[in-house]
Order: sequence, then structure tokens, then C-alpha cells
Amino acid sequence: MFNRLKDCYNTNDFRSLAKQRLPSPIFHYIDGAADDEITLKQNTRAFEKCDLIPNVLRGVKDIDTSVSLMGKKINLPLFFSPTALQRLFHYDGERAVANVAEKFGTFFGISSLATVSIEEIGENYSCPKIFQLYVHKDKGLNDSMIENCKENNFDAIAITVDTIVGGNRERDLRTGFTSPPKLNLKSFLSFATHPNWSLNYLFREKFELPQLQDYVQEGTNITISIGDYFNTMLDQNMNWDSIAEINKKWGKHLCLKGIMSVEDAMKAVDVGASAIMVSNHGGRQLDGSCSPFDQLSDIVDAVGDKIDVICDGGIRRGSHILKALSVGAKACSGGRMYLYALAAAGEAGVERAMRLLQEEIERNMKLMGCKSVKDLGRHNLKFR
Ligand code: LAC
Repeated sequence: MFNRLKDCYNTNDFRSLAKQRLPSPIFHYIDGAADDEITLKQNTRAFEKCDLIPNVLRGVKDIDTSVSLMGKKINLPLFFSPTALQRLFHYDGERAVANVAEKFGTFFGISSLATVSIEEIGENYSCPKIFQLYVHKDKGLNDSMIENCKENNFDAIAITVDTIVGGNRERDLRTGFTSPPKLNLKSFLSFATHPNWSLNYLFREKFELPQLQDYVQEGTNITISIGDYFNTMLDQNMNWDSIAEINKKWGKHLCLKGIMSVEDAMKAVDVGASAIMVSNHGGRQLDGSCSPFDQLSDIVDAVGDKIDVICDGGIRRGSHILKALSVGAKACSGGRMYLYALAAAGEAGVERAMRLLQEEIERNMKLMGCKSVKDLGRHNLKFR
């Protein structure tokens, strides 16, 4: 049976291993998306709409894969998108991912719904750090997270702008996934048949959401689905003025996570953001939405010289990253690309996933005849 980390060579392999290791509500929470999951599939398929055109004989023994993003030089054009609830996937959660970001010299992020605190990450990690802010109705909570990020030297805040309501995640409805996980008749069998996960969950450090727990009980003490959390806790009146207000309070690099239209990309520039993540939340929100890669060229043409454009979502291969950079993205990011690996094998899993992607980037750059990320451009792409 396929069950060892050393048998994993790509995201799909890590996914298979994660599926074996996780109780089904947890696996389907990571793996699933909204409605018919068309956008989830489209996010990766979009990269097949164009092909790379290599150059040869360029003397590529030494190459440079570094890029600069939001004022920081990172060693790879790839980073870990902040994601929620990581300790549910593996008991080392965010710490495992942060250790790998540190090793690879790239951005790492934690979510407002992270299972570690801003303080802990600020104190222990020197890699560039991004905080994913969910704008809550409770302004005191928003302000406390922003203040904490300032005090703990976070480099950037990414405001999530695509979760104004919860997406319709039918797999979560079927499995009854909640935070914290709920043991009921429906889920009992899947927890009982994954004793390793269940024992780790029960006997290791208690699951909590440190950013939220002094302000809201939901998510830590009161079980709630992610959809209901978004619908009841987040500020549905959030608008461009809210972003300007947060930007004023924060005063450092601001990124908007979940921009898909050219119009909004231009507004992001006007409001003073230094980066946007072109993203549809991994297809977990609006099914039928365009893929980040399909929108990338229009957005880069409109704002690429004023703001860092990040292609977030659907990345499964180094060649996907090269295609996005060729169109004009500054860097790529993703969630599932490392979350399956985290669930499969903790830090060793995330490290292997990142190493494989790094090797793919380097190998493919050499095969493309590129010494530096700057050598990539639209001239080396052919759209079908
Ligand atoms: C999700 C949020 C929490 O997609 O990012 O589930």
C-alpha cells in the first residue's frame, strides 16, 4: 500500500497519504471546495491553457531563484499562503510550516484562525511573516490583532476579502465538520478508525485559536462550521473604506487576499496596498469563479508596475509557477500544496513538498534556459 513519505513525489501523492492519515471530516475540509468544485479544478487546469517555450545553450549552471516581495528578498518565488486551523491537520501545525519557511527563506503566514499566537510566531521565527486578517464585526478583536502584529514585527497583513459570506462547502455539510471537531454518531467511525490522529488530538496540546479566544467563544469552546463562522462573525459591511482605515492603523505592507477583477486590483493600488493575492480562496467560496491564472495577465497589465501581484491557488508543479511568473506575477502561493504534506507527515512532509517544488523550479528554469526569474516573460509562453 502507498503509505510512506518517501513514496511521495508530488501534491497528489501527499494528498493520498493525507487521506489515509486523517479522519474524513478533516481530510474533506482541506480537500473540498464550494458547490460543484468546478473552480477548484479550474485553478489547476488553467495552467494547461498555455505551454512554455524553452531556450537552450544559455550556460545555466548557477541560477538565481530569488524574488523580492513586499520589500523582502525571498529565496524562492513561492510561499506558504496563510491557512486556518493547522493543528487539526497535524499536531505540529503552524510550527511545522514556519520551520520549513525558515529553512527555505520564504514568507510564512498565520491566519486569524491559526492555532498558534502572533506572539509565539513573532518571537521564534525570523523569516518574513504575514498575518491573514479576517475582518470581524468585533472591532476590538480586529484592533487587537493589528496591534499584536505591530508589536511582534510581522512584515505584512493580508486582509481576506473573499469571505464576505461562507461558501457552500457540501462536503463539510455531509461530514459535519466543525471547529473544534465534534464527535457525533456521524463522525465517530472516522475518528475511531484513525486512532493516531485521535490520540494526538486528545492528549497533545489543547486545540485553541489564540487570536480569537479572548473575544469570541466560537471556534474554540463552541463548535461551529466554518461557513457559519464567516456568516455570523465577519463584517459583511466591510468595504474599501474599511481597508483604508485598517491600512492607516497598520502602516506597513498591506496585501489584499482574494482580488480577482482588474477594477478591484486598481482600487487596491488606490487604497495604498503593496500587494494583492489573485485568489478565489482555493475554489472554497464562489464556485464558477475564474481561476487566478486566467485573470493574471489582465491584472498584471493594469497594476503590475505599481503593486506586487501574487498568483495564489491551483499550484501543483514548478512549471505552474514558471508560467505565472512568465505572465508577470512576482511570486506564487498556495494552501493545499503544503497542507496535504503537513497532514501526511508534519514538518518532514512540508519540507519534502517544498523541496520537490524547489527542485522543480530549479530544474525547469534550467530547461527553460533561464538564469534568473527576471529572464522569464510572456515571450516564453504560447497560449493555445
Ligand atoms: C477556509 C478558511 C478558514 O477556507 O480559510 O476554510
